[in-house]
Amino acid sequence: MDFQLKTLTVAQAAAEKSDVLIVLVGSAPLTTKDPLSVLAASARKAGDLPDKAGKLLSLYRPDDVVASRVVLAAIGDGKPASVRSGVTAAVGAAKAQGPKRVVVVFAQPADGAAVACAVTAAADASYVYTTTKSKAEPRSIRHLTVGVPDAAGVTAAFNDARGTVQGIELAKEWGNRPANHATPTLLGEAAKALAKLPKIKCEVLGPKEVEKLGMGSFMAVAQGSAEPLRFIVLRYQGGPKDQAPVVLVGKGITFDTGGVSLKPAAEMDEMKFDMCGAASVLGTFRALGDIQPNINVVGLIPSCENMNDGRSVKPGDVVTSMSGQTIEVLNTDAEGRLILCDALTYAKRFDPAAVIDIATLTGACVVALGGVRSGLFSSDETLAAALQAAGETSQDRCWRLPLDDDYAEGLKSNFADVANIAGRAGGAITAAKFLQRFTGDFAWAHLDIAGTAWKSGAAKGSTGRPVGLLVSYLMSRAGGEKVGAADKAPTPKTSPKASPKTPASPARKARSAK
Ligand code: BES
Ligand code: MN
Ligand code: ZN
Repeated sequence: MDFQLKTLTVAQAAAEKSDVLIVLVGSAPLTTKDPLSVLAASARKAGDLPDKAGKLLSLYRPDDVVASRVVLAAIGDGKPASVRSGVTAAVGAAKAQGPKRVVVVFAQPADGAAVACAVTAAADASYVYTTTKSKAEPRSIRHLTVGVPDAAGVTAAFNDARGTVQGIELAKEWGNRPANHATPTLLGEAAKALAKLPKIKCEVLGPKEVEKLGMGSFMAVAQGSAEPLRFIVLRYQGGPKDQAPVVLVGKGITFDTGGVSLKPAAEMDEMKFDMCGAASVLGTFRALGDIQPNINVVGLIPSCENMNDGRSVKPGDVVTSMSGQTIEVLNTDAEGRLILCDALTYAKRFDPAAVIDIATLTGACVVALGGVRSGLFSSDETLAAALQAAGETSQDRCWRLPLDDDYAEGLKSNFADVANIAGRAGGAITAAKFLQRFTGDFAWAHLDIAGTAWKSGAAKGSTGRPVGLLVSYLMSRAGGEKVGAADKAPTPKTSPKASPKTPASPARKARSAK
């Protein structure tokens, strides 16, 4: 699916060659006198196109329009959330006829965030998974043109959104693949393939190297599986060499049976999605390779299966993590934290500006927040605020939950430094408290995406979240500067936008002085 941005009035959009024309109509009265705008205005007046985002009115072969179908879609206040519902509804309605060319035109002025949401929503609503079907019908839409009254002001946002879609779709693809088509080895190869993109390097470690690193906790999870583990290290270097990177850590459990603490059979197939954190890291790198912002990013993916076997780790076993802390594995189904803790310890070596882990970590988070917002945990106010803001901008929202030390009480063990589970109460938070023990000296945030990474039921499938949030956050750090522009600038290293976020920041010094 390719995207194009054009300066178009509604009248010009009506003359564009396409199968479906989608006209986005906001709350403000339409004043232009072309036939479609007049029609939309009278439909609004008659109550046939209510001023509520997501309401639609479909037309067949109206006069003076090249497309045989027109969908008028209400977008209310024109804010990202409203544009998203309008475009999602309209593309959802339009796709039944299998259109190849679609034009989406804003009848009123639109800002960058609105245009970006139109692009991501159109891609999301038309996505089709095909990889493991023998006679799959791929997505019909080949070309999508976004028309706005003035394209010049929104070009950067449009291009970033197009890159973000590439990332979201890569994350969906790997999330959706069944576990036998998405083994740790295959994830490693997918990461290696990303290194073909500019400024991206990739290294994939196997069992021997991981043993040498002393990742005893990660290895304990992997030991019950016939599939060898992988530890993936991705690097995107868009900024100066000495600029501290943001490190993204993605949980890559390619299948979670629960291990000896076996899960119930119902819906266990959905545990193929337990590598969606990893997929979101791959997707974010895919987007970075396309957008090329002026920033450094490291991606770390511990990946293995959590299986039930004669060699599996058992409840009560004590393992030694890379940090030296010993862990009593009271429940083998709390495996995500066991692989993430070693990756978090590994992250220290990059002297990171921030570390964000992304994980389908707890059923408790699904209970707390459902499928709307991801759980956000952070000990760093600035990082938490930036991630929350990125969630709103990208409409890939999250909600902050607490990290009071009292929540760590239940993790005490009589046989090790820490246990891998506490009681049932506050399960998403106690999991975050476990991870926090491995993040001593850097700004850290944890995103629990157990409720948001995939949908169940008839619409079962990966959502590609939180690639939108992560890319938006990284772009806000880059200050919107592109590598190309920075290369031409005389003193990119001392750019005022970059300097407060580098390791020399007072906040960071204060933290590491503790
Ligand atoms: N991958 C699961 C979390 C999960 C469960 C995500 C259901 C989405 C839906 C994770 O590894 C897990 O099993 N967590 C346990 C932890 C418990 C044993 C403390 C859980 O949430 O039940
Ligand atoms: Mn589990
Ligand atoms: Zn899991």
